[in-house]
Amino acid sequence: MGKSLLSTEDLDAAEVSSILDRAAWHKLQLTGPPADRLQPLRGRLVANLFFEPSTRTRVSFEIAAKRLGAEVVNWSSAGTSAEKGETTLDSAKTIAAMGPDVIVIRHPSAGEPRRVAAQLPCPVLNAGDGTHQHPSQALLDALTLREAFGELRGRTLAIVGDIAHSRVARSNLFCLPKLGVKLRLCGPPSLLPSGIETLAPAGMAMATPVLADALREVDAVMLLRIQKERQGEVLFAKDGEYSRVYGLNERTIEWLPADAFILHPGPFNPGVEITPELATSRRSLILKQVENGVPIRMALLERAVAA
Ligand code: CP
Repeated sequence: MGKSLLSTEDLDAAEVSSILDRAAWHKLQLTGPPADRLQPLRGRLVANLFFEPSTRTRVSFEIAAKRLGAEVVNWSSAGTSAEKGETTLDSAKTIAAMGPDVIVIRHPSAGEPRRVAAQLPCPVLNAGDGTHQHPSQALLDALTLREAFGELRGRTLAIVGDIAHSRVARSNLFCLPKLGVKLRLCGPPSLLPSGIETLAPAGMAMATPVLADALREVDAVMLLRIQKERQGEVLFAKDGEYSRVYGLNERTIEWLPADAFILHPGPFNPGVEITPELATSRRSLILKQVENGVPIRMALLERAVAA
């Protein structure tokens, strides 16, 4: 069976670099005439199973599969037997019985794609599971930073926001240090789990609740969305309070080096974690991240079906 990808923790540095290199190759190929493009997944079937909303991830997995020549079926839990009480595993086994070559799963519960993958006959790609992992996002972030800097080793990225509920932060913690990138994790103490930096190798990550300290002399900053849907209680008074202390705006941008880039996995709350002006400024790589989602997912689909 081909290779599932359930967590960036499962990849070593060589595998991460190989996925980025293959994605860069696909990206170059996509700039050429359609007739010249290779379609290594022609005749294959990719099933997208989304138990949680998504725009970027779902659409880019679909586009990636189609660019590779595969057929695609899109399933989302709304309007299906999941609403009648069918379990995640039974829904996944039902789709698997129809013969897809790869299943892509997004789920609100941490660990569910891994649990399901153990019982399916085909590889599974984790498209985001609760607060746990979003491996294809971390890989597209790495590709975006590599394009911006050329060489990643020795660079520093600040990740600011709701670290506690962020699968993006967790995926990047296990991915970027493997490429030599140091991380600074920053957010309100209520959203910054004690000891989170120890998930990265020693010396590769630090945590601080002080935004000015997080932004000082970094090469890039990634803002995270405040995930109200995952917060069981109100962890700070209101959006205005968060934005004043942790938002990237015309005042706090002064702490960021003038040549540092701005990233956000999206979707973003305009005016909360970042102002619309900065999100669309020349320093923003947000749409590059979206663009790079397609070649990264092409590389992952291709890897999944490889013998
Ligand atoms: N970044 C990300 O996962 O976005 P979607 O929820 O739109 O897929």
